[in-house]
Amino acid sequence: MGISSNDPDLLKAARGEVLNRPPVWMMRQAGRYMKAYRDLREKYPSFRDRSEIPEVAIEISLQPWKAFQPDGVILFSDIVTPLPGLGIEMDIAEGKGPIIYSPIRTQQQVDNLLPLEPSKSLPFIKTILQALRQFVGNKSTVLGFVGAPWTLAAYAVEGKGSKTYSVIKGMAFSDPTILHQLLEKFSTAIATYVRYQIDCGAQVVQMFDSWAGQLSPQDYDTFALPYQQKVFQQVKETHPDTPLILLVSGSAGVLERMAKSGADVVTVDWTVDMAQARARLGNHIKVQGNLDPGVLFGSKEFIRDRILDTVRKAGNWGHILNLGHGVLPETPEENVAFFFETAKQLNSAAVER
Ligand code: CP3
Repeated sequence: MGISSNDPDLLKAARGEVLNRPPVWMMRQAGRYMKAYRDLREKYPSFRDRSEIPEVAIEISLQPWKAFQPDGVILFSDIVTPLPGLGIEMDIAEGKGPIIYSPIRTQQQVDNLLPLEPSKSLPFIKTILQALRQFVGNKSTVLGFVGAPWTLAAYAVEGKGSKTYSVIKGMAFSDPTILHQLLEKFSTAIATYVRYQIDCGAQVVQMFDSWAGQLSPQDYDTFALPYQQKVFQQVKETHPDTPLILLVSGSAGVLERMAKSGADVVTVDWTVDMAQARARLGNHIKVQGNLDPGVLFGSKEFIRDRILDTVRKAGNWGHILNLGHGVLPETPEENVAFFFETAKQLNSAAVER
């Protein structure tokens, strides 16, 4: 590991270096808006096959790289991928997302969870990450990712995606003992999994606490933040040089709290002005974001204006240009191409900060 001037730009930005232009990638950059992905999905209709057969997952991860040369290449996988290794059986249903066959509701189920052994239950992750690193070399940064304890617990307890989170909030707000034990076990497992991804070649790792924005700030402090901190602390103990990114969806009310998680980079969504986010986060935190994914349904002029606006507001250090959340499946592919071209042509003079 260590730090080298040969390192790719995204890694440098995540460390807070001043660059000529911000590096750029997109969350969900491999996926349904791409024809190449939809074609491959017909051949491999099961999401688990697409993400767990190494050759297929490698090809999908590289589709956006081949089309747009983003500064970051993210592993094609899902946040629920490690759950079977803990003894939580799941599938990922077309158009629905994760399904957990026996949702976790009892002490017995929490006691029965297995410790995660990534080299045994997730060997394909190693093959995929090593291949991505080899393929992109120093031209791009390979990103790994995991789900955060609260968000994975939301799937494990609810059994599927939820609009109301009534089951997990019922547990949290009546007798939270079992839930805290589950969150504790998930923290250890996720830290183990992040370390494994780094050992296999991930240069930056993003943790998605997508549903932590569904908690009020005081409940975020009880059920999300302490477990984010546990994961990041454990990883930093053994892998202090790998930048860690945190995403919370709908995070406007908890930005300052995210800055206390131990993450190096905080993802800012489009409900917050980037200049205000910078002011609220302070100058030791790097930022990622923050265009509305809906901008990509706009005109080319509009897309360009919004990129410039975000880049000016974020300033010339420690900014990774991105959308505030994943690219939407209906997005015109040519607008994604335009977004990347425009971003990559920026330079500090053109931005006139
Ligand atoms: O960013 C990338 O390109 C990497 C791929 C990636 C996927 N899932 C692939 C996927 C990443 C980073 C994820 C993370 C993930 N998975 C999150 C956190 C990110 C976020 O959106 O906040 C969450 C909450 C999940 C759970 C999940 N898996 C959902 C909500 C869905 C979508 C359901 C749907 O159909 O809209 C999935 C399935 C999934 N994971 C898809 C993709 C590309 C869509 C299914 C497909 O394309 O075949």
